[in-house]
Amino acid sequence: MLQLCDVVKSYDGKSTVTALAGITLSIGAGEMVAIMGPSGSGKSTLLNLMGGLDVPTSGEVLVAGTDLARQSEKERSLFRRSHVSYIFQAYHLMPTLRVRQNVALPLRLAGVPAREADARVERVLAEVGLDHRADHLPDELSGGERQRVAIARALVTDAPLLLADEPTGNLDSARGKEILALLRSIHGRRGTTIVMVTHDREAASACDRLIRLRDGRVEDDGAAPGGAR
Ligand SMILES: Nc1ncnc2c1ncn2[C@@H]1O[C@H](COP(=O)(O)OP(=O)(O)OP(=O)(O)O)[C@@H](O)[C@H]1O
Ligand SMILES: [Mg+2]
Repeated sequence: MLQLCDVVKSYDGKSTVTALAGITLSIGAGEMVAIMGPSGSGKSTLLNLMGGLDVPTSGEVLVAGTDLARQSEKERSLFRRSHVSYIFQAYHLMPTLRVRQNVALPLRLAGVPAREADARVERVLAEVGLDHRADHLPDELSGGERQRVAIARALVTDAPLLLADEPTGNLDSARGKEILALLRSIHGRRGTTIVMVTHDREAASACDRLIRLRDGRVEDDGAAPGGAR
């Protein structure tokens, strides 16, 4: 699903910051992988490259066999729409849109007809256990519920790759556990490839594999301790 070959990412500013200093790894279809590492070690940068939100300074990033660095911004964004979905620590919901409208957004962008979109929204809201909140505004929901809306929005396009940047970072541990159980069950049911950045050991142990970054390099890559398999 993902192949990275000697990926370097540096940012030019007053001084050059090397966020990723040569990453080579591959993630198979259907894996559930945690990425851990100290603040500033390059976790979010890596996730953004995997999702084609950004391109490497050098090296190759292949997503489902496609080299994103060789594509135009437009091609990349079309590719992203069908292949990759994201969830974030801070949910990133549209505050003025109701739950069902938030979840429908990626389908509207993709030009899916309203009737089909409505049916798909209903289905994923049921899948995350929020069908009874479909007409609420994000403000009217708890943190855990908001993250479930964000997960529903990520699922609605059926993208094969789900990237999550600290999805439980804003939640208390009980709510965090529920979100992890939900991601785990999505992974089991749909076979979605999931890559999750986390600071939380418990979150990492919900995954099958743990990659540790330090100073923009892979420090360790193996089975997650206490992992699900
Ligand atoms: N747009 C940018 N411009 C310049 N430097 C950046 C930019 N984005 C990230 N960096 C730098 O790259 C390095 C890696 O950042 P990144 O956000 O990937 O870290 P992280 O591991 O996700 O950290 P955290 O756990 O704090 O979220 C950091 O030193 C950061 O300051
Ligand atoms: Mg980060």
